[in-house]
Amino acid sequence: MENLKYMQAIVVDKPIGPSGLRLVNDYPVPEIGANDILVQVKAVGLNRADLIQSYSKYNPPPGSICPDIIGLEYAGIVVRVGSRVVNFKIGDRVFGLVASAAMGQYLCTHSQTAILIPQDLDFEVAASLPEAFITAYDALVLQAGVKLNQSVLISAIGSSVGLAALQIAKLYNCIVVGSSRTPDKLKLAQNIGLNFGFTVESGSFVQSVLEYTRQIGVDNVLELVGGNYLKQDIECCSYRACIVIIGLLAGIKTEVNLALILAKRIRIYGTTLRSRDLSEKIELANVFASEILPLVKSGKLKPFITKVYSLKDLHLAFNDLESNKYAGKLILNWS
Ligand SMILES: NC(=O)c1ccc[n+]([C@@H]2O[C@H](COP(=O)([O-])OP(=O)(O)OC[C@H]3O[C@@H](n4cnc5c(N)ncnc54)[C@H](OP(=O)(O)O)[C@@H]3O)[C@@H](O)[C@H]2O)c1
Repeated sequence: MENLKYMQAIVVDKPIGPSGLRLVNDYPVPEIGANDILVQVKAVGLNRADLIQSYSKYNPPPGSICPDIIGLEYAGIVVRVGSRVVNFKIGDRVFGLVASAAMGQYLCTHSQTAILIPQDLDFEVAASLPEAFITAYDALVLQAGVKLNQSVLISAIGSSVGLAALQIAKLYNCIVVGSSRTPDKLKLAQNIGLNFGFTVESGSFVQSVLEYTRQIGVDNVLELVGGNYLKQDIECCSYRACIVIIGLLAGIKTEVNLALILAKRIRIYGTTLRSRDLSEKIELANVFASEILPLVKSGKLKPFITKVYSLKDLHLAFNDLESNKYAGKLILNWS
């Protein structure tokens, strides 16, 4: 380990999408600071942010480590520890979120943002959890403040964040309404508790949601699609509902009826995990370890890994992500 200078890494070679990603063999292994650990990566989760970064449209925040290496969530083994690190030792299995560079053979991260992998979870399962479950928990529980027996509308319910949010909402005994453009994804969601699913091909979904909720509307919306879904979300909201905007797959602009927001006293939040500061990221790692992980261990929350790819199928993996054909999580196995 001492002589290790170079590593493999997936970088954006040309900003043209998945085909412009390249696996390089001579990327310098990052230096660690006193509070950091160096992790040998074993598995990584694929995320939309990586895909957008492959077009150079969503680059890591300033100050990120190895910003040209893509990747937001990892699982692996600690191979070096900084002089002030007390929570991990060499050989520990860890996982977590980073703002960049999860898709390097070795990654450097602040030790307090990493979480110990429970004994019975393998690297692939561990790598599938942080982004989906932290995003969903943060949006629904910490931002929206969901309460027992409320209702929740989740767009793109078959996405990895959508399936995580659905399961968390069911822990609060919520009625969950969800959309997808793919009927099979609705079926999968229905198998894990979705109360009412509808396909969104064109036109409005407001009538379906209002009919299902007997014209009352929903208490919470997790908006993963953005664009003109937001306008409709507002119409679907009940009095004093909360909308959390998480994703913008259908675009960054839309026209909304401000009078409805005002009259219904709707709260609208936007969220990103990537740009949060270190103390917020440490707090989220702690929340994940204390609130979410025990529920994964007990089987109350389940990861949905749809496909695991080897490194040689890197381009196929990102093409599959971009094609929207799968529900749940896609994983890249580094070993
Ligand atoms: N704010 C944050 O911190 C944060 C964190 C994680 C993820 N996100 C965002 O949350 C969203 C979901 O992420 P994810 O990782 O769960 O996604 P994912 O697993 O890759 O699934 C996304 C799904 O959205 C649907 N979709 C794609 N483009 C669409 C469009 N134009 N209109 C309607 N539906 C569309 C597709 O399903 P169907 O078309 O088959 O329904 C697709 O499978 C993404 O926008 C992502 O960037 C944000």
